[in-house]
Amino acid sequence: MSSGPEDVQPTAGARAPRAWFRSDAPAVDLSGDWRFRLSGRADADTGFVGGDFDDSAWASLPVPSHWQLHGYGAPAYTNVAYPFPVEPPHVPTENPTGDYRLVFRLPAGWTAERTVLRFEGVDSWFRVWLNGQELGTSSGSRLPVEFDATAALGQGDNLLAVRVHQWSAASYLEDQDMWWLSGIFREVRLLARPAGAIEDFFVHADYDHVSGAGTLRVDVDMPARLTVPELGVDVAAGQTVRVDAVQPWSAESPRLYDGQLASAGERVPLRIGFRTVRVEDGVLTLNGRRVLFRGVNRHEFHPDLGRAVPEDVLLQDVLLMKRHNLNAVRTSHYPPHPRFLELCDEYGVYVIDECDYESHGFEPIGWRGNPSDDPGWRDALVDRMRRMVERDKNRPSVLLWSLGNEAGTGRNLTAMAEWAHRRDPSRPLHYEGDRTCRDVDVYSRMYPTHAEVDAIGRREEEPLPDPGLDARRRAMPFILCEYAHAMGNGPGGLWEYQELFERYPRCQGGFVWEWIDHGIRQRTGDGREFYAYGGDFGEPLHDSNFVADGLVFPDRTPSPGLHEFKKVIEPVRIDAGPGGGIRIANLHQFKDLSHLAFPWTLEVDGQLVSSGQLQAPELPELPPGVTITVALPSPPETESGLAAGAEPWLTVRAVLAKDEPWADTGHEVAWGQIRVGAGGPGGVPAGGTRAPQAAQEPVGGGRVVVTTRMAQGDRIELGPGVFDPADGRLVRLGGADGFAVDGPRLDVWRAPTDNDRAPHGQAVEPLWRAVGLHRVQHRIDGVDIHDGQLVVRTRVAPAATDLGLRTTYRWSAAAGGLRLAVEVVPEGDWPCPLPRLGLRMAVPASLDNVEWFGRGPGEAYADTGRAARIGHFTASVASLQTPYVYPQENGNRADVRWATITDDQGRGLRVRGEPTIDFTVRPWTSEQLDEARHPIDLVPGDRLWVNLDRAQQGIGSASCGPGVLPAYRLDPAPVAFSVLLDPMPGP
Ligand code: GAL
Repeated sequence: MSSGPEDVQPTAGARAPRAWFRSDAPAVDLSGDWRFRLSGRADADTGFVGGDFDDSAWASLPVPSHWQLHGYGAPAYTNVAYPFPVEPPHVPTENPTGDYRLVFRLPAGWTAERTVLRFEGVDSWFRVWLNGQELGTSSGSRLPVEFDATAALGQGDNLLAVRVHQWSAASYLEDQDMWWLSGIFREVRLLARPAGAIEDFFVHADYDHVSGAGTLRVDVDMPARLTVPELGVDVAAGQTVRVDAVQPWSAESPRLYDGQLASAGERVPLRIGFRTVRVEDGVLTLNGRRVLFRGVNRHEFHPDLGRAVPEDVLLQDVLLMKRHNLNAVRTSHYPPHPRFLELCDEYGVYVIDECDYESHGFEPIGWRGNPSDDPGWRDALVDRMRRMVERDKNRPSVLLWSLGNEAGTGRNLTAMAEWAHRRDPSRPLHYEGDRTCRDVDVYSRMYPTHAEVDAIGRREEEPLPDPGLDARRRAMPFILCEYAHAMGNGPGGLWEYQELFERYPRCQGGFVWEWIDHGIRQRTGDGREFYAYGGDFGEPLHDSNFVADGLVFPDRTPSPGLHEFKKVIEPVRIDAGPGGGIRIANLHQFKDLSHLAFPWTLEVDGQLVSSGQLQAPELPELPPGVTITVALPSPPETESGLAAGAEPWLTVRAVLAKDEPWADTGHEVAWGQIRVGAGGPGGVPAGGTRAPQAAQEPVGGGRVVVTTRMAQGDRIELGPGVFDPADGRLVRLGGADGFAVDGPRLDVWRAPTDNDRAPHGQAVEPLWRAVGLHRVQHRIDGVDIHDGQLVVRTRVAPAATDLGLRTTYRWSAAAGGLRLAVEVVPEGDWPCPLPRLGLRMAVPASLDNVEWFGRGPGEAYADTGRAARIGHFTASVASLQTPYVYPQENGNRADVRWATITDDQGRGLRVRGEPTIDFTVRPWTSEQLDEARHPIDLVPGDRLWVNLDRAQQGIGSASCGPGVLPAYRLDPAPVAFSVLLDPMPGP
């Protein structure tokens, strides 16, 4: 064996790929601390492979792990670009190489005819020796490989030596958008293979949805017996049994039957799920029903451990997904740890299992030399497909195989597809990168616009040049293997995609990009923690924070995007019936609603008035796909006894009626709110809170006094406010007990979001900066007092352009507070939407307590706000900030009727919208937020910055994909809005 890391051949000396399974045959997990040394080049001497080598000068490294996360070298992040010259199969001479040594003994009584050494994942190329004898080599980082260790094993100390190279020919096939991380990162085990052991098996368990029968056959390469006691099955392996009535497996009801496969030498426990996947009449079906993927792309990632993800974290992911209504995972862009798929079987998650293949870095060079179409790479690529399919073929959760991601087009993809179709005709194939779909069974796209999805839904997409291929593709089901790029604040526009998935049978849902932010946890010298992204390790070539684009933060805290996605994909939809009552739609594919209870609450102005359980006899048995309207729970006390404008809201929730394996009784699955009684928002809070009383007094009833008491010059007093006569800014609110403010004035800037910055999409940020919206000037054209009003006329405009916003502020006193009416008239021909349009003011940092009636508890923007419900909420200023890995606009609370911002004595400010306002409160300015590169760059000052927005530009998904939909754009237009500012005197 003289292969090396530049060999295209995938393995040498390896055993045939086979399924991952447990059995009663002995096994030893070799995980633990191994001796380790890192060399800078691939050609360091190999003297370490013998037992007499002294490794006492070496360090130790945990297996499994990545050496870069233990102080050897450093992680590096690139998306598309190869971090080395593209000249396959060559790799850099500077090729970090990890040498590993482990001395182990076989457990007593190890009786095995053969012993197999199995590696579940080594990145990227390795050679293995046992007691100095070379067993073989392998590549295929996220794929298993086995070597026969029998001949080399001894009874006493055994020395296992492994040399792992960071770069290899295989690196050209593993250009996934993620950190480059090396080493033995999944476990290594010794497996005893007793005489008569089962080498491999393939479970075929189909479900006939017409008859309700299951068909079971387990193919084994040797005589064996299959038993499934619960079904009375006891047959020879290879024999087909029909079971008249089985419960099928689905993500909604992941029914598994325990069985056993027994040969002369081994017993293998089985968990069998009966299900049938088909493409029928242009629709992907499971057990005869249309599949709707509510999915996510999942990379394997842990902020401290990289892709060496511990089992409890695999489970944590599955539980989090189930609790957020997700039903599907695409294993982007490689097979996950096999245990993850077992958990998907058990808890119910559909899987598109993707091969460990991406050659995206050939795209920038016009796909020249792309391995997908070079015969020299054929075997390596088919081997990858084969190792995945063989490993995972017995997982009922795997509904489709995927050839890989972003690997262009070519004959080798066809060869991979042909191999998979032949080996497993029961599962359709997926691959997005070839628009002709010649090798696959479903049409898949990433990041199309809503309009394009609509056309595809109607089967009216742009034709392919080849009519035969076009007709074939047009007859296929359609999925979005990636959409809604969850980078930073967002994604926006999820709901509009969901509507298309529900409208067109062909559009069978999709997979949000992506599950988790791949931020690597780091600490500054003084101990402050942050999540590193591309460039933070000094990489000369990197893609910055494009690696942080998940629905959960690196520590798996759900981001607002996950809350939003949960709401959008909820399997029960609750809203107002068209003619009154509560409309409830069962959006499950298989289940009725008997597993749910429907508690309701009636709140008036956010205060609980009454509650109960929705009693509708039809509800528990409501079949999937059916909608009913049920009566309101009790005559709500809307019309009588309420203050004028008070807001009664009925909230109906769908919660688990009993414990499920993934969540407890009472877990909320879905909810809806109905405003009962007439009228829209505009109410003022009722008594019982620290909220204001209704403003009865007509505006303009205040007192305007010009005095000269302030040392620095004249001042204007109006109601509880003190204004600077030079520029008409509010400088103080609340008289003697009051506090300094830096008066509200027009603000149009927000710290650009990743979707505004959009390095790979339609960016608005460059337009904003070109216009100068981050540096507007406020020219004062007049400060006048008349008719009890203070009128401040201004023009807000950036330098170097004739664009501007003519802005008039009209202040008046109102019921102990101030009313500010603002008019904005844009001037000039604006080339871009505005980031925001509203007011910004500063108040003392001591006003740390925030309370509001409006949407909450989480942040909400025009196109991301569905998860925020109307209610009465409280929060600290710190908890209103969303710590996106890359700082950006965040924390907006929407449709706020009133908010208070007070110190611990209750002193502070109350804001009321007329009728509503959006607000953010931060301990730093938008400009500081804009400049920060990590959350730790943001240091609270002695003031809070309060934004009161009439509107903000939507969020969209342009960081990779379409921008803000027209309905959510904030194009400059004349507007008028007003707010009421009341000082709160405290106790
Ligand atoms: C896709 C790709 C993903 C990821 C995403 C952007 O093109 O398949 O791996 O790079 O874009 O985050």
